[in-house]
Amino acid sequence: MIESLVEVLRCPESGKDLTLAHVGDWFELNGQRHVVDGILQAVGEPDKRYPILDEIPHLVPRWWVKDEEQAYLDAHLDDHRLDWNEERRVEPEIVTDEDLEADIRNRMERQYQLTDASPPLTRQRCEGEIRYMLSEARGTNKLKYVKALAPYVERVDSVLETGGNFPGLTRNLQERYRPSLAVVANIQILFPKAFKTPNRQIAAVRADVQALPFKSGSFELVASGFMLEHVPDWKAGLRCMMDVGEKVFLAFGPNKWFPFEVGHINAPLAGTLPKPIAAYVAWFWLAAVGRRRPMHRIRAILAEVFHVGSRAFRREAERLGGMTRNLFPEIIDIIVRDANAPPTGPRKVLKRFPRLAGFSARLLTTLGMEPQIYYLIDSGAAAGHPPPSSELRISR
Ligand SMILES: C[S@@+](CC[C@H](N)C(=O)[O-])C[C@H]1O[C@@H](n2cnc3c(N)ncnc32)[C@H](O)[C@@H]1O
Repeated sequence: MIESLVEVLRCPESGKDLTLAHVGDWFELNGQRHVVDGILQAVGEPDKRYPILDEIPHLVPRWWVKDEEQAYLDAHLDDHRLDWNEERRVEPEIVTDEDLEADIRNRMERQYQLTDASPPLTRQRCEGEIRYMLSEARGTNKLKYVKALAPYVERVDSVLETGGNFPGLTRNLQERYRPSLAVVANIQILFPKAFKTPNRQIAAVRADVQALPFKSGSFELVASGFMLEHVPDWKAGLRCMMDVGEKVFLAFGPNKWFPFEVGHINAPLAGTLPKPIAAYVAWFWLAAVGRRRPMHRIRAILAEVFHVGSRAFRREAERLGGMTRNLFPEIIDIIVRDANAPPTGPRKVLKRFPRLAGFSARLLTTLGMEPQIYYLIDSGAAAGHPPPSSELRISR
């Protein structure tokens, strides 16, 4: 963690400023100190302590804390002060893009338990997942967001991405805007290696979007791709993002009111109907199209997705004082005109009939039924929104 990041951090539970209470290993890069392991503590609250492990500050509320985080904190209790890890200068670990790609491949092959004897379908699924992760890591599947933002966001000096697995979207935003501060916050940092680039331009923070550990108005732009539908209290997530960011770009979905759920269950009305009924409809649909899934699996997937309607989302953002702009028609226009986008699935039809695509996108948006939700919100955070109370922010 670059040491200067402390300036924008606050306690995810009490909202108090954080200070660096202890530094173990650290290194210097481009004249800046980076902490490899250490402890952050809320000012005046010695019981609110959060570890920095493998360069990542773990700033999740207590009930999210994992065993290794607790073990580090326990080992650094005040009454053990004499046995604390001593401050020590080390060399930074550098991970190149090639190393990261090899890491992604290894992990996926392990997850799918791939061997020479694996059936072709398993191999195909694993390769599909690797391709997706690589495009995320390289940011190639997020370029359209940067294009959609270009007319409305001229320059920004600080960027936060919430729910990014890799710094892919942030990498694109960084290439476009060259911000001096770029952070990715996620409830799980699955690929810490992705942040160990030679220049450490993007910082990773383990954080829950429902209780973001950043001071109000810390970022000029907050951006997020396909995270909000996984957040149980999306209103708390939206409130936190609008509190820490002046502008907030959110892509998520599918829209609760689009009649076909794409991306999680892939069945009609799965996001619209009450979940117990949606599970049966999905089971029959998947059986009918030859993609049968066991009922417990369908229920488990549905339990992890929280579908939100486009209009309800806009109403909430405006209630919080934001000015909203629905970017769905613009995103469709960008997809249709993108010569490099592979013409697969619905894209094939959209590209063939660009006018029809534009008309349908505008019609669906007017009806509040666009399949995916893309909004840019001017949150007014710079104008000094009062920070939400900590009770409201923490929803789990
Ligand atoms: C479907 S993935 C999307 C990944 C990537 N942003 C993309 O567009 O492909 C959802 C991500 O949201 C993260 N996430 C889920 N709940 C979260 C929360 N409460 N706070 C922060 N991140 C969360 C998950 O860890 C996961 O990385």
